[in-house]
Amino acid sequence: MKSFSVKELLTTTPLLQEVVINGWVKTFRSNRFIALNDGSTLNNIQCVVDFEKFDENLLKQIATGAAIKVKGTLVESQGKGQNVEIQVDDITIHGSADPETYPIQPKKHSLEFLREKAHLRVRTNTFAAVMRVRSALSFAIHQYFQQNGFYYFHAPIITGSDAEGAGEMFRVTTLDEKNPPLTEAGDVDHKEDFFGKETNLTVSGQLEAEAYAMALGKVYTFGPTFRAENSNTSRHLAEFWMIEPEMAFYDLDANMDLAEDFIKKVIQYILDNCKEDLQFLEKRLLDEEKTKPQAERSEMALLEKLKFVVENNFKRVTYTEAIDILRNSKPNKKKKFKYPINEWGADLQSEHERFLVEKHFKCPVILFDYPAKIKAFYMRLNEDGKTVRAMDILFPGIGEIVGGSQREERLDVLKEKMAALGIDEEELWWYLDLRKFGTAVHSGFGLGFERLVLFATGMGNIRDVIPFPRTPQNAEF
Ligand code: 4AD
Ligand code: MG
Repeated sequence: MKSFSVKELLTTTPLLQEVVINGWVKTFRSNRFIALNDGSTLNNIQCVVDFEKFDENLLKQIATGAAIKVKGTLVESQGKGQNVEIQVDDITIHGSADPETYPIQPKKHSLEFLREKAHLRVRTNTFAAVMRVRSALSFAIHQYFQQNGFYYFHAPIITGSDAEGAGEMFRVTTLDEKNPPLTEAGDVDHKEDFFGKETNLTVSGQLEAEAYAMALGKVYTFGPTFRAENSNTSRHLAEFWMIEPEMAFYDLDANMDLAEDFIKKVIQYILDNCKEDLQFLEKRLLDEEKTKPQAERSEMALLEKLKFVVENNFKRVTYTEAIDILRNSKPNKKKKFKYPINEWGADLQSEHERFLVEKHFKCPVILFDYPAKIKAFYMRLNEDGKTVRAMDILFPGIGEIVGGSQREERLDVLKEKMAALGIDEEELWWYLDLRKFGTAVHSGFGLGFERLVLFATGMGNIRDVIPFPRTPQNAEF
């Protein structure tokens, strides 16, 4: 007898077919109705049991969370709520789940509670839906780049450089913690370390992607990224996934065009392919928002918000224009910002980004031409000598979702910049080589994958859109 997924049973399997189905029990009502789910879809298949035909001990084991195998016939449903159901002939218990101790009972659990049960939380409708959307988004991202002439490039995870110059790195070492070899000056001697130098987990694959773009033309990375920033916020992870396209011969305008088109296409993909899950997540969000004060509720429901992004142009604004808007804004004048905006050159905090997106422009915003002082060393200096060709994309509810730039391709300018920032030329000798041999205008950006998933699913905390989140003081599982 053929084994089917729940999705197949609900959509394509002919009636009166004899079927086998494996899954986990969601609920078992009245010793008669099993709602069975196997993860293939949000919906359950109803299995109807004639309890008189079955052993009482077996029926007892059919509780929420148990893994079972059901044999039966797919028939038109007699009851409401579903079109088809299985008339059960035979049940095998793979593994039972004790209702006294199984934490995922059919009732509402808080997201905080479920975070502590991260190995089981994907058995809830919410997390299963989020993770299916996450999977679909990854596929859409690869598909977008593969269809547009990009090559998938694997950046190293262990590196010797700090691409972002922020110094928020996890060290990688095999030296003896208690008794490390020391130099004459008394410092830890990394020459004796595994790689013969100090190394860390990558904060970005960009620098290496630049090397590859300068031969393959258009490349992208999609991999894990690590930042030891002690930010306990709903938008920061210590381990997250980043997508970093890098394109030879692209200037900043072409870079912005690509980023906008890319985001729209991957969101369109899930609108087309994840309808049920998104509808479920939209309803979840509406229910959650009912518990909030009116002022904090979002103006658009989830699907409307996703369609809005796909259908409208992102607003492109220079940093200088944004500062003017912020300086003259109500919250700034009324001293409502935690970090007041007084002068040009101030770094933008997430409260400012969200004001611009959510209150002022009410659409995704691309901010560009930032002050050189607040951006990384590799960004191309503008003619004014004080701004760089940087761009950040800001999203409602999220703040910064993309950070990118046109890269400094001029050897002399780059060297000056590095010297001013105290970056050792010897450490980045190979990066400078790229400017010595066949240098060219090039650009790229980084999209924080979990921030995209947050936006796409309407979840509120980044810890709830990655299977096993790594955050300060938390690396369980
Ligand atoms: O703006 P960032 O730091 O840019 C770079 O790393 C560049 N090298 C990218 C490039 O041009 N190739 O990071 C890019 C994006 C951010 O906009 C944000 O979405 C995400 O990565 N991000 C994080 N996501 C989750 N947790 C964190 N701690 C993050 N830090 C950055
Ligand atoms: Mg950034």
